[in-house]
Amino acid sequence: MNPLRHVAIIMDGNGRWGLKHKKSRNAGHRAGLNTVEVVIKESIKNNIKYLTLFAFSTENWKRPKKEINYLFSLLENFLKNKIESLHKKKIKLQIIGNKKFSSNLNKLLVKSEKKTKKNNVLQINLALNYGSKLELIEAFKKLQKSKKTLTEKNFKQYLQTKNIPDPDILIRTGNTQRLSNFLLWQVAYSEIFFEKKLWPDFNHEDYNRIIKKYKKIKRNFGNV
Ligand code: IPE
Ligand code: IPE
Ligand code: MG
Repeated sequence: MNPLRHVAIIMDGNGRWGLKHKKSRNAGHRAGLNTVEVVIKESIKNNIKYLTLFAFSTENWKRPKKEINYLFSLLENFLKNKIESLHKKKIKLQIIGNKKFSSNLNKLLVKSEKKTKKNNVLQINLALNYGSKLELIEAFKKLQKSKKTLTEKNFKQYLQTKNIPDPDILIRTGNTQRLSNFLLWQVAYSEIFFEKKLWPDFNHEDYNRIIKKYKKIKRNFGNV
């Protein structure tokens, strides 16, 4: 059975779900938060140590201002209401991506990271204003500046995921089969699951089915 340390998820399909059920994309974003809680709970049950959630990409700034504002207000409320209970469950929150938000949200993010820094049950990497190409370019620049030799090992130290093992599983919900600039380097050997269901419909049975399937896959890493 394959060990499972890290699951990464592209949580896609909120907008379509909201339009279908409530005639509003934003209602889908709100509903998607329930699935986030389900996945956190199941990850702990399965003894998964790292959960990386793609919440906002560097490309998502192209969306209407109203939707962007709503997404960040949801995030702000979620943190305000839940950080205490996440902390009690010994969950560590880390942001990957560039923290270029309102000063209130930035402060809240930094405060939440600080508060949960020493927790060790589950690390949640929340990808916010994250884009893999930008991450790679910034890593190259930092490595160049350091004058270290360009090796895989040295390079990895400059990624935002340094010290985090690569994802074993990558899940994308929402019936689209693409990576949308997410962890391009890190998913080199991940087992990828594209799910038809929209994110708010994804449930604990779907998640556990994927985990069960993953555990039986023969992972070669180039070997035979
Ligand atoms: C959520 O799904 C992903 C975010 C960027 C928050 P979408 O908002 O992309 O939903 P669809 O794909 O339009 O249905
Ligand atoms: C990917 O979903 C980003 C997040 C889930 C945060 P998108 O909905 O932005 O991806 P595209 O634009 O359809 O590729
Ligand atoms: Mg989408």
